[in-house]
Amino acid sequence: MNKIIVAIDGFSSCGKSTMAKDLAKEVGYAYVDSGAMYRSVTLFCQRNGLIKNDVVDEEALQRVIDTIKIEFRLNEETKKNETYLNGENVESEIRSLAVSNQVSIVSAIPFVRKAMVLQQQAYSKDKGIVMDGRDIGTTVFPNAELKIFLTASPEIRAQRRYEELKAKGQEEKFEDILENVKKRDYIDQNRAESPLRRADDAILLDNGNMTIEGQKQWLIERFNEALKKANA
Ligand code: DC
Repeated sequence: MNKIIVAIDGFSSCGKSTMAKDLAKEVGYAYVDSGAMYRSVTLFCQRNGLIKNDVVDEEALQRVIDTIKIEFRLNEETKKNETYLNGENVESEIRSLAVSNQVSIVSAIPFVRKAMVLQQQAYSKDKGIVMDGRDIGTTVFPNAELKIFLTASPEIRAQRRYEELKAKGQEEKFEDILENVKKRDYIDQNRAESPLRRADDAILLDNGNMTIEGQKQWLIERFNEALKKANA
């Protein structure tokens, strides 16, 4: 049975990673969180003084972009993949609102996208991969056998992120998160390089009123259909 590539794109805080992780676990595929890569580059910029007043020092970043190494390593205790930036576990820090507030600016830079897309494509050598992001079905894997495009209202998405951060002890105001969600939607859809858009052959899913279990079942059905088609 030939393995396939599954691309899950959509707006921020839509639950893409939950769906992608659940599917990867269920079918024994690798999972790659492409957003974590852009978040790691953003954290790198913040730590190294490469962003001032929401403006990135692109020249300085370009000089060091090839030294930024992002890896995913399995945490043996939680059995979850965690993000490492140049050997340091940054899984929690990259989810902060401080990083969320500047990640769209960093991810709009063409040479940053080029470097990340190359790394993402390298993960797929053996297929059998589920990747979530904004441009996976359009740019990273335009030939993916299964493409999903997720959406839900900004209010529902902000509420989800609010609860996620609260559970981690990072209490933020709901209004600030909602503003961040809307701002990122705008920047992600309007940037010149690989803007967020649904690939023509992506299946649209509004999961605003669906349970996590319902989404999981829905996705497994789509996966089985795509796998059957790819092996026909
Ligand atoms: O999925 P996320 O919220 O963790 O992604 C963080 C940001 O990274 C998001 O605002 C846009 C950017 N991103 C991107 O431009 N392309 C991707 N493939 C994934 C994320």
